[in-house]
Amino acid sequence: MIDLPLKKLRPGMVTAQSIYNSSGASYLTKGTELTKHYIDKLRDLGVIGLHVLNYSSEIKPMPPEDILSERTRVMAIQRVCDVFAQIERTGTFEFEPLAKAASAMVADIATRSGNLVQLTDIRVHDEYTFAHSVNVAMLSGMLGRLANLPEGGVQELTMGGLLHDLGKIIVPPEILNKRGRLTQNEFDIIKHHPEAGFSKIRAMSLPGAHILGIVALQHHEHMNGKGYPGGRQGTDIHLYGRICAIADVYDALTSRRPYKKAYSPAVAYNIMVNCSEGQFDERLLKLFFSNVAIYPVGTVVKTSKGYGIVKKVEFGLTDRPALVMFADQYEHILPEPYEEHLRESPEHEIDSVVDDKVLLTRIRNSGFDPASLL
Ligand SMILES: [Fe+2]
Repeated sequence: MIDLPLKKLRPGMVTAQSIYNSSGASYLTKGTELTKHYIDKLRDLGVIGLHVLNYSSEIKPMPPEDILSERTRVMAIQRVCDVFAQIERTGTFEFEPLAKAASAMVADIATRSGNLVQLTDIRVHDEYTFAHSVNVAMLSGMLGRLANLPEGGVQELTMGGLLHDLGKIIVPPEILNKRGRLTQNEFDIIKHHPEAGFSKIRAMSLPGAHILGIVALQHHEHMNGKGYPGGRQGTDIHLYGRICAIADVYDALTSRRPYKKAYSPAVAYNIMVNCSEGQFDERLLKLFFSNVAIYPVGTVVKTSKGYGIVKKVEFGLTDRPALVMFADQYEHILPEPYEEHLRESPEHEIDSVVDDKVLLTRIRNSGFDPASLL
């Protein structure tokens, strides 16, 4: 899998990420073989790059299955988009359609639970909030299920995730999508969105409005009290708030924004687990990464024995995937690639994810595309 800038995309490459627009329609579903027409369309949309599974057009790898079906995801994005539009127009929204989307998501989370979270999709700039809300809802529901919440709790969390950033309605788009550093004043406006969301949700007579409001209110609180708006600490933050905080940061880190690139899952993992001391509930964070691929299928890694491509990732072992080793430490392609499950080889360590530019050069020079081993 390689993250390629638009100008390097070629017909025959297979997409590893889906691309969504605001109204929820998917421009391109992952697993699609690119054609010249699709590449032109991506250019028109302003997409600057995309993860593809293969470089060589002779092979047709399949992306791993997602937790949400494409149908559920698209429907949920459409519903969130409708809700934001209705609230802007009328101050309230129809509860039923959104609750139905949440139910479809909860059903997917329960029945497709064998699938791990792989790569985040791509959102076209101004339309970030809707797809982000659906992803946060999916990740929150998934984590709620892993934390053994009853189905009603998973449903509440998923609904809460869909509405967690509702308060962003009060933030002008030029601040939300600003490229450069925010001024203190702009940041203060953004920091008001949890309370704005809370009061908007509470003002509507929705079923479960209180708990949905709490998710919106508390998703930027930190365990050490350094979050906002309340500076609450530890279990003074509702379990749902602690869950949504993890889902929100993970999705934000792994998405491309006007002011930052998309971090790989491995970098997001490192930031959240090693560089954010005191921010998250550690038990929940561990549970979260037991079901989120740190090295998604198709990732090329440098290990203590050479180079391999991730073939399979399993629940609870996301830092120890199954690899197909294809080159030695000196980058010589092996005459016979071999499979090795890191679960069974404790001495075999992953050193790093191979940089996309380096990988591209190597594939071009050697004529060997590791995706042929998937
Ligand atoms: Fe937020």
